[in-house]
Amino acid sequence: MAAKTTLSLIKADVGSIAGHLIVHPDLEEAARSSLKDAKSRGVIEDYYVTHAGDDLQLVMTHRNGVDSRKVHELAWQTFEKCTKVAKDLHLYGAGQDLLADAFSGNVRGMGPGSAEIEIVERPAEPVALFMMDKTEPGAFNMPIFRMFGDPFCSAGLVIDPSMHSGFRFEVCDIEEHKRIFLDCPDEMYDLLAFIGSKGRYVIKRVYPRSGKFPKDEPVACVSTDKLSQIAGKYVGKDDPVAIVRAQSGLPAMGEVLEAWSWPFLVSGWNRGSHNGPLMVVGMDDNRTSRFDGPPRCFGLGFQLANATLVKPPVDLFADAAFEPTRRQAAEIADYMRRHGPFEPHRLPMDEMEYTTMPDLMEKHKGKWESVK
Ligand code: F6R
Ligand code: MG
Ligand code: MG
Repeated sequence: MAAKTTLSLIKADVGSIAGHLIVHPDLEEAARSSLKDAKSRGVIEDYYVTHAGDDLQLVMTHRNGVDSRKVHELAWQTFEKCTKVAKDLHLYGAGQDLLADAFSGNVRGMGPGSAEIEIVERPAEPVALFMMDKTEPGAFNMPIFRMFGDPFCSAGLVIDPSMHSGFRFEVCDIEEHKRIFLDCPDEMYDLLAFIGSKGRYVIKRVYPRSGKFPKDEPVACVSTDKLSQIAGKYVGKDDPVAIVRAQSGLPAMGEVLEAWSWPFLVSGWNRGSHNGPLMVVGMDDNRTSRFDGPPRCFGLGFQLANATLVKPPVDLFADAAFEPTRRQAAEIADYMRRHGPFEPHRLPMDEMEYTTMPDLMEKHKGKWESVK
C-alpha cells in the first residue's frame, strides 16, 4: 500500500506588531529555523511558514499521521521559541495562545488551532489552505458548504459523475463536544438547520461518497478549537484554518474559490464582539487594520509531491476577480460600523468576548424599580 501523507496546518497567535495586526518577520524566521532543523532530523518531510494577520501559521508535511505527538510537540516548541522572540521584542500579546504551562501530548485544547488530513496522495494532489483572522471556526461553515454541497457554487455536483453522489459532512457541536455525520444532498436541509447556527455547530471534516475515493480520507478539514472555552475567559478569537483538496472528482480549485465570491457576515472583528463582512485578500494585504479587521481570509494553493510542498504556493485571492468582492466587503464594513454599539453589529450579550455587564449590573443594582 502507498505510504500515506499527512498535511498539518497548526497556528497560534504568539505575538504581533503594532497591536493585534501582524506577525513580526523575526517570528517567522524563528519558526523557519525550528522547522528546518526538524526536517533535517526527519521529523517532518517539508514545511512552509506564513502568517494570517497576527497568527503564525506552520504548514508541515510528514508521515506520522494526524494528532502525532512528535509533530504537535514540534509545533508547540516552535511556538515557544517564537514567544521568546516576541517577548524580547516586547511584541503585543507575546505567548497569548500558549495557554498551558507545558506540552502534554497534543496541541488541541492547549491554545493553538490545527487542521490535519492523512491521505494517499493522488498522482497530482492540489490543496488549498485557508487562514482566517479575527473570526471563529463557524465562519468556515458557509464556504465549505458551498464548495461541497451547493450546486449553484460547484457545477461539478451536477455535471461531474464522480461528484454527483455528493459528500458527507462531519459536524461538531462545540458546546456539548459531540459530533454527527450528515450526507448531502439527502440530508441537506438537516445539515443547514445545524450549521446555520455557526457559533455552535461547526463543520469539522468533509468526506467523499463517490467510490472513486477511500471513504475514510477527508477531503476538507477545519480547525474547531475554541479558545474562549479552553481558557474559560477571553483570550482572543479562534482565528480558524482549513485544508481543502481539489480537482479530479472533487470541487475544481475554481469552484473552491467561487465559494468566497461574496462577503458573508461572520462574528469576531474588534474585541471578538462584532459581526462584520469576511474580506478575502492576497498576501500583500495580510494584516488587519480598520476596527482590527475587517475579518479576513487568506488562501494559499499548493501541490503535494511525495509528502513535499511544491513551492512557491499560489496566492489564491491575489486576483482582480476578487476586487468587486473586496469593494463590497468594504461597503458592508461601513454599513455595519454605523450601528456602533447596537446589535446586530455588536454581538448579542452571551456571544461577546468582552463585557462590562457584570460591573454595570453591580453599579446600578439598587436602582432598578419593579414595574407592573
Ligand atoms: C480580536 C482582537 C482585537 C482585540 C482588541 C483589544 O480578536 O484580538 O480586536 O480584542 O485589539 O485588545 P486589547 O484588549 O489587548 O487591547
Ligand atoms: Mg492577537
Ligand atoms: Mg488573530
